[in-house]
Amino acid sequence: DTTVTVAPATLDFTAVPKSLADVVAVPSGYQVTVLYRLGDPINGSVGAYANDGSDTTFSARAGDHHDGMSFFGLAATGTAPDPTNSSRGLLVLNHENITQSYLHPNGPTTTGGVRPTAEVLKEIEAHGVSVIEINRGTSGWSYVNSSSLNRRITPFTPMDVSGPVKGSALLFTAYSPTGVAARGTINNCANGTLPWNTYLTNEENWAGYFRREAGDNARRTAALGARSVVAFSRYGLNTGSNDALKAGNYNWATAAAPAAGDTRIAKFNATVDATKAANGTGDFRNEPNQYGWVVEIDPFDPASTPRKRTALGRMNHEGCVIGRTIAGVRPAFYMGDDAQNEYVYKFVSSATWSAADASATNRLAIGDKYLDTGTLYVGKFNADGSGQWLPLVFGQGPLTGANSAYAFADQADVLTHARLAGDALGATRMDRPEWTAVNPVTGEMYLTLTNNSSRTVATTDAANPRAYSDPKTTGGASNGNPNGHVIRLRETGDSSEALTFAWDIYAFGAGSDLNPANINLSNLDATNDFSSPDGLWFARPSNVAGQGTPLLWIETDDGAYTDVTNCMLLAAIPGTVGDGGTRTFTNSLGGQTESQTTRIGKAPGTALKRFLIGPKECEITGIDSTPDGRSIFVNIQHPGEGGGPSNLTSNWPQSQASGTGSGRPRSATIVITKSDGGIIGL
Ligand code: FEO
Ligand code: CA
Ligand code: CA
Ligand code: CA
Repeated sequence: DTTVTVAPATLDFTAVPKSLADVVAVPSGYQVTVLYRLGDPINGSVGAYANDGSDTTFSARAGDHHDGMSFFGLAATGTAPDPTNSSRGLLVLNHENITQSYLHPNGPTTTGGVRPTAEVLKEIEAHGVSVIEINRGTSGWSYVNSSSLNRRITPFTPMDVSGPVKGSALLFTAYSPTGVAARGTINNCANGTLPWNTYLTNEENWAGYFRREAGDNARRTAALGARSVVAFSRYGLNTGSNDALKAGNYNWATAAAPAAGDTRIAKFNATVDATKAANGTGDFRNEPNQYGWVVEIDPFDPASTPRKRTALGRMNHEGCVIGRTIAGVRPAFYMGDDAQNEYVYKFVSSATWSAADASATNRLAIGDKYLDTGTLYVGKFNADGSGQWLPLVFGQGPLTGANSAYAFADQADVLTHARLAGDALGATRMDRPEWTAVNPVTGEMYLTLTNNSSRTVATTDAANPRAYSDPKTTGGASNGNPNGHVIRLRETGDSSEALTFAWDIYAFGAGSDLNPANINLSNLDATNDFSSPDGLWFARPSNVAGQGTPLLWIETDDGAYTDVTNCMLLAAIPGTVGDGGTRTFTNSLGGQTESQTTRIGKAPGTALKRFLIGPKECEITGIDSTPDGRSIFVNIQHPGEGGGPSNLTSNWPQSQASGTGSGRPRSATIVITKSDGGIIGL
């Protein structure tokens, strides 16, 4: 799309007030349409969703907990991409998790400590990814439930392992004794949209699903060595205290196999079977190493096998966003590892960008070219506003077999245990790195740091500078950095290949009534105060605000602010790194006080406004637009997640029209359009 729409450098809407109502609220002049809900059929093999817990077969229905999402334009007819089409396309979205209680008639059941197989299969298949065709007709947007392109990818879908870890003994399982294939993807959080028309889905909180029987640390040490237990622990794959049973989310691994030899459920038991080969080819002791990757999907070929891109490292992958593509320059991919005190990463491809690849038809082969060979870096943020990208390359610096603290074996080991490599390199421990977004005009990279209840005065640093107590908090943790912040960086020379950068903090989350001297440092007011930023997205480069940049959109997941408002979406005209200055303030928490200095951007003022408030108990997640910017798709994740079949705490989306409704709440994709047909936000 070559049409560039330049609007004044103001946000052309009235800020939406904070709200606890059970509706999606948007500014006047905008409409909300509910497009694709939990359980909606994607083909004719299943009927309409009854939404009473009786439904089955989520392999043919929308999954739960809609998250990261990309829109890909389709040609007017047929199945080929057309990145300029704003009225027909594929919507690809993640189903991160489930609200288990609503998936069964009276919530989940367990008999004698064992989950029913049918319930477990349903819960597993409600995870994964949807690909659906959508169309804008005379009556607005709808999804095409008969499209041949519709697809559900689940934790059972066969996948290929690609990149340097392919074939590593770390990936040997009974499913793939040579470590070249994987089965499924899970806890898919944020997304990535690649210029060659493929989709990236990112495996985030996968560790929690695995069962480990009592004594497994001891068996694992005997079979695979103590390093294997250290590595599991570093990724949250703990056994209980004193090596006791760790059941795993939803107790899935207690269920009987669906049929003899069917290991689809058994794979969630990572316990070492001492009767099997020590290298893991006979059980699922290495199955957790199959997760924590970036996965590339070709949405235009429903028969294609997704590829786990191991060169991008293994972590709690929140998302993966490609930076600007410039001919002859190696592109960068930015990624957060979302857990407390984890790192931010950049992968730089070894291939230089060729614009012709954007229209190639062998899309996953193009992915091989850019994503399988290159260098993974981890971020170090310095107090003076500079930073370094430190390479995760086996044999360089401390990443050798000689380093007794970490003892890396090879590059596959470094990538599979990127967190250990980051520890060895001295990377900066951040306040939960969530989404990244790159300004398509300037190349500056923004990163949400959602919150961190474990941040103390003693562990603050310039890039994670606040430790305080939020007096208003009723939900979530109130201490540490309960409201989060958005950091941004500018690569040296504005080059994706740079090994150094400058950074500052774009905005600090805070209630507008909190102390501007040390908490509400960005001077947020009632029109734009927020907490726990999470989703982050730059509008298309064809839709440029007056100061020469597309709008920045920020979504929240507010544990610390839900006493005051449901979660929200804000729009911003961003500035640039260094447009503010240096700020020194006083942290005070837990009897400790210290002076802290950071780099802070210009206070956003009216260049940041609240655009949307979601329904009760939801998180605002995925976001993308059509190429013309006139339709924005947003995901409403887990409305009413705190309730159950007998105590519904939300009725959304049934409540969307009037604020009240009946029936179980459903995660859903909405589409927002403007009454005058204009570009959203401008
Ligand atoms: Fe799935 Fe870190 O959010
Ligand atoms: Ca998130
Ligand atoms: Ca979050
Ligand atoms: Ca969530």
